[in-house]
Amino acid sequence: MSSSLSVVILAAGFGTRMKSRTTKVLHRAGGLSLIEHVVRTALTIAPAERIVAVVGHQAERVSEALAPYGVRTALQEVPRGTGHALQCARGAAPADGALAVLYGDAPLLSEATLARLVMQHASGKAAATVLTAELDDPAAYGRIIRGADGGVEAIVEYKAATEAQRAIREINSGIYCFDAALLWRHIDGITTNNPAGEFYLTDMVEILRAHGHRVDGQIIADFSELLGINTKVELAEVDRIFRARKTTQLMLDGVTIERPETVSIDVDVTIGADTIIEPNSRILGRTTIGENAVIGAGSVIGNSVIADGVILQPYCVIDDSRIGEAAHIGPFARLRLKNRVGAHVHIGNFVELKNTAMGDGAKANHLTYLGDSTIGSKSNIGAGTITCNYDGKKKHPTTIGAGVFVGSNSTLVAPVTLEEGSYIAAGSVITDQVPGGALAIARGRQTNKVGWVARKKGS
Ligand code: UD1
Ligand code: MG
Repeated sequence: MSSSLSVVILAAGFGTRMKSRTTKVLHRAGGLSLIEHVVRTALTIAPAERIVAVVGHQAERVSEALAPYGVRTALQEVPRGTGHALQCARGAAPADGALAVLYGDAPLLSEATLARLVMQHASGKAAATVLTAELDDPAAYGRIIRGADGGVEAIVEYKAATEAQRAIREINSGIYCFDAALLWRHIDGITTNNPAGEFYLTDMVEILRAHGHRVDGQIIADFSELLGINTKVELAEVDRIFRARKTTQLMLDGVTIERPETVSIDVDVTIGADTIIEPNSRILGRTTIGENAVIGAGSVIGNSVIADGVILQPYCVIDDSRIGEAAHIGPFARLRLKNRVGAHVHIGNFVELKNTAMGDGAKANHLTYLGDSTIGSKSNIGAGTITCNYDGKKKHPTTIGAGVFVGSNSTLVAPVTLEEGSYIAAGSVITDQVPGGALAIARGRQTNKVGWVARKKGS
């Protein structure tokens, strides 16, 4: 990273065709907002204080999303064109060095491509280097006019282009690297003298040349990196590309993924070698999964830490939780909000955990709700156990020591403590502390009326 590099990201446009209340660059692909992808790419060539995002539509929300990255923002109150957007960054962006211009709605640009553009710019003598692409169908992109010496003479917008110019297949990506001092010196030369009445940044090419400077072009190898998003259809396509990149990288790193095209894994997820990801699972946010784990079909995991060797049967939903080594979970288990599950724990079907800690080797195998509880190691929670943690106003804790046996269909009314090694008879409603090693029975006594059925029939 060179200290003389800076980046301006243009992100003030409306994005009308998204047909959304949310501004375009805050839509998400691969688990991050579009602008976050671009900022992360920018951070690979420049430090945060030399990166400026030009915001306009929903400026406050966009600035909020960027705050964790420490980049600067500049306001373009009314979108009057790409040239005007860059002018708005003048006060916030560095005055010298090389300055790259990126688009906030084109998140697929790779670090390598950006680095290559910056390198060519640094090694040449051009005042600006334009990233271009050669397309079979150049559509409505700006066309690159090359001079006899191979330099770029002009960029002509489609609307203003002649038939002959429209036949040119080399297009403007909208991504540039400028000599910052020359850019700022001459940027006010941009006018609105064009069919759209906008300030076109593309005019900088002719302006720089008129002042005796050279402009170069660099052709990108993979055009798909330039895909910009205008509609939800394009958003889905870019999301698909991010997720395909992610699963491909994970597989190359040794993760087994069955039917990877059905799996959604966010960009920040990490997964260890020899873990198996079954079809239709979603692994989201900052989730970390160890080695030799199995993530069952249809499971959804968000912001969780899953240790080595964990087996998740199909259709588990896990949020904001930590799962210890070789635990077995599911099928159909739900863990939400700050659970800490120890090593070798078994959590079975239709079990819900909320803000609960289970010690190593503890078990809750069937049909159970454990909320705001602490459960000691090797305790066994019987089928149908419910912690009554909510009294209608407040949540209360349930504390269960190590080696406790809770019989099936027990109701634990919190706050309550079951001390180490205690035993709860099936069907109990426990409202009071159970001493260590004690058996608690809290249910109606059974009475058998011998001969009752026959007497009833006879009457
Ligand atoms: C621009 C280029 C065109 C190029 C194309 C590539 C110009 C005049 N044309 O056209 O040569 O082929 O990109 O995609 O530059 N933005 C602002 N404020 C504004 C206007 C735009 O921040 O006032 C931002 C948008 O949010 C977007 C980017 O700049 O991220 C590009 O704007 P857009 O209107 O899409 O430019 P194009 O017409 O596509
Ligand atoms: Mg565009």
